[in-house]
Amino acid sequence: MSLGANRLVEIGKGLVSREVFVDREVYDIEQERVFGRCWLYLGHETQIPEPGDFLTTYMGEDPVILWRDPNGRPRAFLNTCRHRGNRLCLYERGNASAFTCSYHGWTYNGEGKLTGVPYHVEAYFDELDRDRWGLIQTPRLTSYGGMVFGSWDPDARSLDEYLGDVRWYLDAVLLVAEDLGGLEPVTSSRYAARGNWKIPAENFAGDHYHNPTTHGSSYKLGLRAAEFVGPQGRCGPFEVAIAPGHGLGGLTTGAESFERDLANADRVGPEARYYVEARYAAIKKRVKGAGSVPYSFSHANVFPNFAIWGGSALRGHGFFMFHPRGPLSTEVRQTVLFPREAPQVIKEMAIADLGRGGHFASGFFEQDDANNFEQVTQGTTSYIARQYPFYFGMGLGHEGRWPGQEEWEVHDLPGLIGPRFSEHPQRCFYAFWAELIGEGE
Ligand code: FES
Ligand code: FE
Repeated sequence: MSLGANRLVEIGKGLVSREVFVDREVYDIEQERVFGRCWLYLGHETQIPEPGDFLTTYMGEDPVILWRDPNGRPRAFLNTCRHRGNRLCLYERGNASAFTCSYHGWTYNGEGKLTGVPYHVEAYFDELDRDRWGLIQTPRLTSYGGMVFGSWDPDARSLDEYLGDVRWYLDAVLLVAEDLGGLEPVTSSRYAARGNWKIPAENFAGDHYHNPTTHGSSYKLGLRAAEFVGPQGRCGPFEVAIAPGHGLGGLTTGAESFERDLANADRVGPEARYYVEARYAAIKKRVKGAGSVPYSFSHANVFPNFAIWGGSALRGHGFFMFHPRGPLSTEVRQTVLFPREAPQVIKEMAIADLGRGGHFASGFFEQDDANNFEQVTQGTTSYIARQYPFYFGMGLGHEGRWPGQEEWEVHDLPGLIGPRFSEHPQRCFYAFWAELIGEGE
């Protein structure tokens, strides 16, 4: 689609129209073609460990219940009663063998079957076909490394194929947790942000460039180590564009980051050191045969709106979802997970840091970012401003021929790997977005 004569996305020129972030028609189309077709992250299996455990979330704007059925199988249902549309589950999390609608009392079991209809003889003369009026279930649901993804598209390619090479990095750096007791959620937070969901999503896909400026105060205050002084490092950080529309950045390789974590772990105690060493040994084992060893990444976005945050063995991983709430508003949901075997002291330090300096609603980093997203939105909604596109041209034409790349410690690593300051992951994000909504170049 396009609005009038203007293209929404021109990747070859690095241009993305501001309408992409504000226009209602664009928003409605992406609900259908992006959120109605892509694989979307719903939650982590450890959040619903037992039969009957459930959590409520969203797929695009659609409210969804992720519910473990009596046989232990996770299922995802639209959180709406089939009778006249009332929201069925009003809770965030819990355990239930059935849900009864609070409007007229229809009841559904963990397999989504309609099992109870008040006055079914008197009101429906026993003619209601209950099999026809069960809950609406996602046709596709797959679990990968404990992460549950669903899609409304019955013909969607497999999740493996959709994740592509991003899976290689997640297997090595995130799912190394499986060798350390498995990931477990330790805390969560949420907040409402004023801005289109794509603004935080593309930021996580590959915007290392904003760090020295947006988060400059944190570096000046010493809340974060200043890692932006001097030239591009041989071992990172790198930004990676991964087909079809994923991005991953702040990638570091080799032993440098490991040594830095070790030095920090030594300030905590021997158990922290042991854990950092065990994690690195497990990563090396996982990528055996690859020329370079990835150690960590600080940010990633699995298209469209599932972001993963990390950057150090001492920080754990944040799973962030950017749920669209209209063109100009986003609900941000954040869960922090750690390998079960990580020492308690590290978990507590990381949680304190997240709330103070990091990516929780109260943290410096998150407030820095949210402020930008809000200001971008304010500067994008007005009539004149909307006529001028955003520029995503950083590094355009240099892809795969970056200055000094022959020195980089990235042998055998997949994806299009570029320097820390480049917008090739965002171009990858918007090229896929444009393809999905029907505006390929
Ligand atoms: Fe749920 Fe009527 S809307 S029972
Ligand atoms: Fe940021």
